[in-house]
Amino acid sequence: MDWWVWGLASLASYVLIIIYLSWRNPEPHSTWQQIDLEQLKFPSNFNWGSATAAHQIEGNNTNNWSSFEERTGIEESAKACEHWQRWREDFNLLSELGVDSYRFSIEWSRIEPEQGEWNEAVVSTYSKMVDDLLQRGIKPMVTLHHFTHPIWFEELGGFSKKENLEHWVNYCERIFDVLSDRVKDWCTINEPEVFSIMGYFMGLFPPGRKSIRKTLRVMRNMMSAHALAYRSLKSSRPDTRIGLAKNVTLFDPLRRWNLVHWITAKVLNHLWNGIWISSIKRGRMLGRRVEYAKGSVDFIGLNYYTHVLASPFMPRTIEVDLPKRKHQIMTEFGYPMYAEGLHRAIEMIAALKVPIEITENGVADESDSLRPEHLHRHLLVLSQAIEEGYDIRSYHHWSLMDNFEWAEGYKLRFGLFHVDYDTQERTMRESGRLFKEIIANN
Ligand code: FCB
Repeated sequence: MDWWVWGLASLASYVLIIIYLSWRNPEPHSTWQQIDLEQLKFPSNFNWGSATAAHQIEGNNTNNWSSFEERTGIEESAKACEHWQRWREDFNLLSELGVDSYRFSIEWSRIEPEQGEWNEAVVSTYSKMVDDLLQRGIKPMVTLHHFTHPIWFEELGGFSKKENLEHWVNYCERIFDVLSDRVKDWCTINEPEVFSIMGYFMGLFPPGRKSIRKTLRVMRNMMSAHALAYRSLKSSRPDTRIGLAKNVTLFDPLRRWNLVHWITAKVLNHLWNGIWISSIKRGRMLGRRVEYAKGSVDFIGLNYYTHVLASPFMPRTIEVDLPKRKHQIMTEFGYPMYAEGLHRAIEMIAALKVPIEITENGVADESDSLRPEHLHRHLLVLSQAIEEGYDIRSYHHWSLMDNFEWAEGYKLRFGLFHVDYDTQERTMRESGRLFKEIIANN
């Protein structure tokens, strides 16, 4: 064959592949106009809520994160929002918003500070929190692991060792025994993909490792940890609903004509989303069977924030902004606002064929100039998805109040309430008032 025929044929195939990929994987963008709140339609039994996590608000925790903060010199969580002392006042904020549901996490390191030493006073405080919420007519949704665990567990190798999973199950059973008569909705693990990839591949979360082998092992063990907890808890109280909170980040090719960008996006999407969903569907992860994983969710929690425009040269630090499409608005976290992606994320996890709970969605926005628009757009996409027939039961806004944003420290503010960290005063933001109004009208 002549070289030019060969060249033309290759070019034609390349173009066909790109056309096919683009057709199979659309990246919709809406032209957003003024959103009329009347357009939002939610079923009358829809649950409105807000979410937090123990280490981000409680203050003075001693766990894998606090020791990572000390070791690496990043901003320390220290007293955070002093929520451990102020939880009653903070629950007033929930009542002020008028939420139906509150998602919060239990701090394992408080409950079992040394291996086998259980702090009953701490358990009792969590139990009082649950009672208090119920008295207010707010349904508690409890997360058992939100990125943090005791130092002794970390020193044993944490989730990188399969033999440590029995300690985890022990802890889950302990707290479940006390609270499950009143708490019906449980998330075992928050964002296992974030925990394993940020902690073991990117090195930005504890333990700060950068090893592909370890990452894959931790991923599999976390799936296993979820499945073991699900099995044990569910068998003791079948009337509870147990799920996990999955962060769905979408990966789209930075340049849609570049095959290398497509391949990168596909690989990342598979690692971040695909294998977790398929291991719950099929009970296998990374080619190996994960015991009890198949069908191990009564609902799936969805944490949705953004999409990532992928190429082989992406920033690996948190200081640099991720790329965005020209028309997109950049958020303070350094990724674009992409509400349209919430629909794609819902579509993706609907493959599990269980009810969907939006366990997190929100934006870092200190001046509160973007949050109202962010809320409008995401709720519009959500209400449309519900109208299309997706079984979505709740929306938990991240977060109730400003708090310790992990590796980013206190500079990123996600709260419906502003927190003054000097005085610990909480003040409702404009977006808090908007959320309250939306709840009241829906
Ligand atoms: C999620 C985490 C949550 C919070 C938000 C902004 O990935 O689950 O704790 O940090 O991001």
